[in-house]
Amino acid sequence: MAELKNDLLLKALRGEQVSRPPVWMMRQAGRYLPEYMQLRAKYDFFTRVETPELACEITLQPIDIVGPDAAIIFSDILVIPQAMGLEVLLEENKGPLLPKTVATQADVDALITDGVEDSLSYVMEALKLTKRELNGRVPLIGFAGAPFTILCYMVEGKGSKAFDKAKQFCFAQPQLAHQLLDKITTITIAYLKAQVAAGADCLQVFDSWSGMLSSADFNAIALPYLKRIADELSPLCPVILFPKGSWYALPEIANTTASGVGVDWCLTPQQARQMAGPNLTIQGNFDPNKLLLPPAEIKKQVKAMIDGFGAQRYIANLGHGILPNIPVDNAKAFVQAVKEYGQ
Ligand code: CP3
Repeated sequence: MAELKNDLLLKALRGEQVSRPPVWMMRQAGRYLPEYMQLRAKYDFFTRVETPELACEITLQPIDIVGPDAAIIFSDILVIPQAMGLEVLLEENKGPLLPKTVATQADVDALITDGVEDSLSYVMEALKLTKRELNGRVPLIGFAGAPFTILCYMVEGKGSKAFDKAKQFCFAQPQLAHQLLDKITTITIAYLKAQVAAGADCLQVFDSWSGMLSSADFNAIALPYLKRIADELSPLCPVILFPKGSWYALPEIANTTASGVGVDWCLTPQQARQMAGPNLTIQGNFDPNKLLLPPAEIKKQVKAMIDGFGAQRYIANLGHGILPNIPVDNAKAFVQAVKEYGQ
């Protein structure tokens, strides 16, 4: 395996001194890239995800075009419901759809938790291939959805503004909800371990909907499972938890074995630092919509963001995924601004 030529991301996560913060963008492989749109016109979403050569090519596109300090494997968090036996469709321009949702004890009992190394072997193949093609240029990030967010899709059956059905399931049938969360956690841990074995240098766990929960409910429903994942994976590689919207949980996240935490734009860099304490690397938190500003203005705001967080124990990123309408030059300006920091 080629040695990493750029290990800024791993250094920042280990709390080591860096010359400037590392930078990458959530959803950096995606619809704002014309090269992605070309493949999207030819192959449907799960074909792109399940074909290692395509997943590899899509993962590398932003590395070659935009130049961030890390690659994130092209896949989706919803491959886990598939591995557990549920059908997941992606309606282009509409979002995910699970025709059969989880509602009863029998539904939970029927879910599969083993064999993920085989059922999702294409992800591990994509990681191996991408690791080889990267040839040490930048680290490779593996990922999974957090148990609460996966529960949201399994129970709701689709995207939602408030995930009412999923929350009602958790509140009305807490025992069943915890059984479901436990099963998702078990398979997710095996999946992430297989990703590390296949070459992932670091892992991110996306809790995209945890911000829908009160602080007390987050501690009851989301946190214990994030903790379990961090405990199992942190001995193998750095783990970044991204409980989007759950700014109130930063002190709790700092008490886990995770190395990093993602934050969105709902709190200032100073607030995030104060709540996260000195031993957690913070990642974020540029509002993706601000990438529509002129490049010169993006650069000014990126510099202010880094000044706010400080250059150490910090990973420059967006507060959520990049949007399809962002000009590639603006994405480049974002990355370039971080690379120029302190020069
Ligand atoms: O970040 C990356 O570049 C890696 C790839 C990646 C995708 N999905 C590809 C994708 C990652 C890390 C994800 C995670 C994911 N998937 C999350 C967590 C992150 C977040 O955004 O909160 C969630 C909630 C999903 C579920 C999902 N997948 C949704 C809601 C959608 C539709 C919304 C949308 O953006 O179109 C998807 C589809 C999806 N996953 C796309 C991509 C590039 C768009 C597919 C397309 O139309 O080309």
